Amino acid sequence: MRRIMKKTVILAIESSCDDTSAAVLCDGVLLSNVTASQKVHEEFGGVVPELASRAHQLNIMPVVDTALKRAGVDKSGLSAIAVTRGPGLLGSLLVGTSFAKGLAMALGIPLVEVNHLQGHVMAHFVETNDAEPHHPQYPFLCLLVSGGNSQIVKVDAQEGKHMPKMEIIGQTIDDAAGEAFDKCAKVLGLPYPGGPWIDKLAKQGNPKAFVFAEPNIAGYNYSFSGLKTSFLYTIRDLMKAHGVSSVDELADCIPNFKEDLCASLQYTIVDVLMRKLKKAAKDLEISQVAVAGGVSANSGLRDAFIDYGRRYRWQVFIPPFAFTTDNAAMIAQAGYCKFLDGEFCPIDAVPFAKTVI
Ligand code: KG4
Repeated sequence: MRRIMKKTVILAIESSCDDTSAAVLCDGVLLSNVTASQKVHEEFGGVVPELASRAHQLNIMPVVDTALKRAGVDKSGLSAIAVTRGPGLLGSLLVGTSFAKGLAMALGIPLVEVNHLQGHVMAHFVETNDAEPHHPQYPFLCLLVSGGNSQIVKVDAQEGKHMPKMEIIGQTIDDAAGEAFDKCAKVLGLPYPGGPWIDKLAKQGNPKAFVFAEPNIAGYNYSFSGLKTSFLYTIRDLMKAHGVSSVDELADCIPNFKEDLCASLQYTIVDVLMRKLKKAAKDLEISQVAVAGGVSANSGLRDAFIDYGRRYRWQVFIPPFAFTTDNAAMIAQAGYCKFLDGEFCPIDAVPFAKTVI
């Protein structure tokens, strides 16, 4: 008699910040990935935690429902539920983890917890039916750059395990790269999140028009708070010199002002990120280099990766756009590896706001 092998089907839920996302993965292949982004924060120029939790409450049922429907999977066919346990906004995480726990208990299936930052790294291993698998070989370095984190992570195989070992070898000592983009964009009166707006304006500007103070931090660590101050002081000094009191008035005095300012800011942030990554790759003799997190959508950073790859003979890995910002596909991939490793989460586990990976 032919034995029918049961498929491993993971439902993943991500709700760490302001995106409610659910994904379904079957035997390691992504079947669906559905995300509801929250527009409610735009008018406040940043994520409002209380509003984020409320929006997750509204979004979670329809998002999970749509992910299951698109995958053609019924709840009864699920093997486990993977959920982001942290780091992130506690109220947001509580919505996702409580939902995941309730569903896992009702279906009598295991719960798998995923660290959000590890999820970003695992985005490189997400396989879909429409693209050939293309992922880094171990060991590799991953530059993890998002709104809340800037880290260089060394990723290596763990014997007998599917989930790799991740070691942070460098990280920001103050602001994250995405935070620097967003805060500077706010100064220019651009909508939230400002990163994509800076990227757009930068394409029409001169990256050498303005020079900002670059941090001088030891080792592989980053710092972006000084750069943000230097950006502010540049604007303040120009306002004084032109006798105006707003960025818009300044833009009327200086041709291509916002475009040049954005191009120079982006150039500096990318340069800071890449120089430390280059040092780490050289010191550790690692030539497989990946980027992950929301800021990896930045066109200047993507171009720099390709350029450094050519110059320093790295094999570079840049995730598809859909897997750069917060998404449940990456949580499903990490959850699948942990499921295969038998790493389940007790039902009384609580979310956490801060952690290292
Ligand atoms: O990973 P992510 O979606 O959320 C966090 O976990 O933080 O990253 C969001 C960050 C925001 O700071 C956003 O401005 C930035 O990613 N971002 C960009 C671009 N697209 C998103 N920054 C620069 N250029 C972009 N094109």
